[in-house]
Amino acid sequence: PTPDVWRRVDTYLTDTLVGHDPNLEQAVADQNAAGLPPIEVAPVNGKLLHLLARMSGAKRVLEIGTLGAYSTIWLARGIPDDGRVVTIEAEPRIADIARANLDRAGVGQKVEIRLGRGADVLPTLAEGIVSGSSDPFDLVFIDADKESNTVYLDWAARLGRPGTVVVVDNTVRGGEVANPATESAQIIGVQRGLEMLGRDPRFDATAIQTLDAKGYDGIAIALVV
Ligand code: DHB
Ligand code: MG
Repeated sequence: PTPDVWRRVDTYLTDTLVGHDPNLEQAVADQNAAGLPPIEVAPVNGKLLHLLARMSGAKRVLEIGTLGAYSTIWLARGIPDDGRVVTIEAEPRIADIARANLDRAGVGQKVEIRLGRGADVLPTLAEGIVSGSSDPFDLVFIDADKESNTVYLDWAARLGRPGTVVVVDNTVRGGEVANPATESAQIIGVQRGLEMLGRDPRFDATAIQTLDAKGYDGIAIALVV
């Protein structure tokens, strides 16, 4: 299909199935006004994350890569009132925007923003789980620097449990994922992550291609076994 067709279809599906929410749309507007990149997930994919949280009965969600908290709001709305989303953001200025968006959307009390690089914050989350003071995560959404996808997947397995759902964003990147000669460190990171999901016995996984408001991309969905 040409872009005009799939954009029209995405609008149709969004209008028909997702609808419009002022707090989600304001979160995107504030993110854009602050000059952050417009790389939040499309509404249909935010709704997918939300439904996966509900379908899996998730109470504890880990998100790596907060940005303006658009996906964080969707996830937080998919867990019970006593559930928790822990979301990791490296940039303090971005975390401030995310916090304001979460509070305005009414989910602030369910969300803990952990400031820092994933590679630094994730080991601190493991301490709580190993010591038994926190339960493992039920759902993990990986949407940060693609170069680190294998590191994030390794932590997802360690911080999860058999049955934990793992979603990796941006796994097709306009088709570049299937280019074995790519020189992009981000694409190579995506490829290594997918290869890990295919090979690592801790996961069973698939991926789907997506065409939506954000263009041609995809997501991987894995189960920790
Ligand atoms: C990029 C990152 C994302 O997480 C995304 O959803 C889209 C684009 C990027 O780095 O270009
Ligand atoms: Mg993304």
